[in-house]
Order: sequence, then C-alpha cells, then structure tokens
Amino acid sequence: MQRVFSGIQPSGIPTLGNYLGAIRNWVPLQETHDAIYCVVDLHAITVWQDPKQLATQTREMAAALIACGLDPRRCILFVQSHVQAHTRLAWIFNCVARLGWLNRMTQFKDKAGKDREAASSGLYVYPNLMAADILAYKATLVPVGDDQKQHLELANDIAEKFNHDYGVDFFPHIDPLIQGVAARVMSLRDGTRKMSKSDASDQSRINLTDDHDAIALKIRRAKTDPEPLPEQVNGLEARPEARNLVGILAAISGTLPENVLREHGGKGFGAFKEVLCEALVAHLAPIQGEMARLLGDPAALDAALRLGAERAEAIADPIVAEVERLVGF
Ligand code: ADP
Ligand code: NA
Repeated sequence: MQRVFSGIQPSGIPTLGNYLGAIRNWVPLQETHDAIYCVVDLHAITVWQDPKQLATQTREMAAALIACGLDPRRCILFVQSHVQAHTRLAWIFNCVARLGWLNRMTQFKDKAGKDREAASSGLYVYPNLMAADILAYKATLVPVGDDQKQHLELANDIAEKFNHDYGVDFFPHIDPLIQGVAARVMSLRDGTRKMSKSDASDQSRINLTDDHDAIALKIRRAKTDPEPLPEQVNGLEARPEARNLVGILAAISGTLPENVLREHGGKGFGAFKEVLCEALVAHLAPIQGEMARLLGDPAALDAALRLGAERAEAIADPIVAEVERLVGF
C-alpha cells in the first residue's frame, strides 16, 4: 500500500481553505493508503506562537481533523514534536540542502515580508523540515494544496542529493497529490491571495468553528464585483472573487462550478451569498458538534495522540536510524 503523509500547522483555527484544499481530501485516503497525518507544531513556531495558545491550538487542530473524518484507527494521527525522528532527520537535511535552493522558495519571501533579516532561521529552513517529515516515513504521496508544490520539489531535490552523496538508493521519489475543484481557496477580502489561518484579518477567512452569524457576516461582506453571476465558467476568468465564491459552493456541494452556474447564473451576489451562507452553515454544523464533543474530553484526545505518536515512531525511528548510520554517526 502506498504511504501518504501530510501535515497541518496548529497556527490558528483551521479554515475553509485548509478543509477544502487539504483535510477533506485526506479522509478517503485512509481507506486506500497507508495514511499518516501530523499536526506540525515544529513548523508553527517558525513564527512566534504564544505557548499557551499553541498547546490549545494543537489540541483544537487534532479535534478538527478527527471531526472532519480522520479516524485514528484508520490512519496514524499525531503531533510532530512528539516524534523525535523529524528533528533528527531535519538536521541532516539542513546539511544536504543548498542555500541556493532555499533562496528560491517563494513562501519564505511571502511569509518573511519586507524585513527579511528579522525572520527566524527556522522559517528559512522550514522546507528542509517538511522534507524530513515526509521522508522519515519514506512516504511517496503527499496531498497538498498547490501552495506547497515548490516545497515538494525541494524535498525531492534533497532526497536525490542524499542518495547521490551517500551512494545509496535510499529515499524514494515523492509525488504531490493535488485534489479537488477548490485546490486553492482565496481570501474573502482579496481574490488574489490565498485564504489562510495566519492572515491578520479574521474577515478574510471562514474558520471551521464560525457560527451562523459569523459566516453570514463574512460572506455578506466578502468582496465581489457589481456584475451578476455569469452563465458560463469562462465568464469567471477575470473575476477572481466571483470565481472563488462559486468554487467554494461547488466544492462543499460536491459538484463543479459549471453546475453551480447552471443553477445560479444570472443571479446577483446578494441572493447567491445567501445560498452560499446556508450551504456553509449546514456543512459545518455537524463538524462543529463533533469538535465540541472531542474537546470536552481532552484526556481521551491526548491519549489518542500519544498512541498515534508511538505508531509513527515505530515506522520513522528505524528509517532515521539507518540514515544516521549511512551518514557515519
Ligand atoms: P495556512 O496557510 O492556513 O496556515 P498550512 O500552511 O497549515 O495553512 O497548510 C495546511 C494545508 O492546507 C496544506 O496542505 C495547504 O496546502 C492547505 N491550504 C492552506 N491554505 C489553503 C487554501 N487557501 N486553499 C487550499 N488549500 C490550502
Ligand atoms: Na504547511
């Protein structure tokens, strides 16, 4: 069975973008693949996280993943910092990856912003840790949003250079798995930027925990243009905000944008936004109920995560031990 690995940062409440672009697609892979999913707290601290909040957000993220359908009996679900293989391998990869490779990473440039000198060195080597996350399990398939494609290419460069430098055929090639119509959900305030849980503006995103009122307000205020919805998908081409809202409704209804336009083409955004809001509320309500139930028993949640970490370690530890032996430790 092909092994799948993916991770998500506990750097805030999971958003609709995380759900449609990642989490939701992880669920069916549990049945067809050897699936390993990780709440990546080591990645989260590449930018400042309040310690108390980080612990809370880590639990909330795990609860959200389970509420969205990840079943700790059908996949391995754990917290990154609980398994030391990640940091052991990441250090070795820091010594394999070249500065020139990291210099090309566009996410670092985006996240570091204008004052690049003030960014943490962790943020800079983040892709090396991500490569270690995947390769510590010799996973070969990584479901990601298309924002992560460049990092996966880097992971393959690292794997190849390691194999070459040490004269082995040790690490496999990794393929990205980009799924779904809403592979990239955009900000509600700016259709050219991706929706992100770490965006400064809460109005830019739908959080999986948002209630009816919050969703209604955010959708009503979502940026749009004055034209009604087009009848055809090519009418969305130069209209990123319209395309985003149509894409979101299509994704949560399990259909394609053309079908959404067949039903709603010609309507104004006022009417369309009401439909979208109700669909979002109906879709998220059961997830929110399940999340609340899970967070009501933190001891059980922590126990499930500890067990997940033990199972992850049983796979990663021998792989990383072999890497260390190849390196000469
Ligand atoms: P965020 O930017 O929200 O903090 P992460 O970096 O933790 O997200 O990414 C977690 C997963 O969610 C990744 O697989 C990423 O590709 C996916 N993802 C994040 N934002 C979006 C988005 N706006 N649309 C689709 N997928 C997304
Ligand atoms: Na990420």
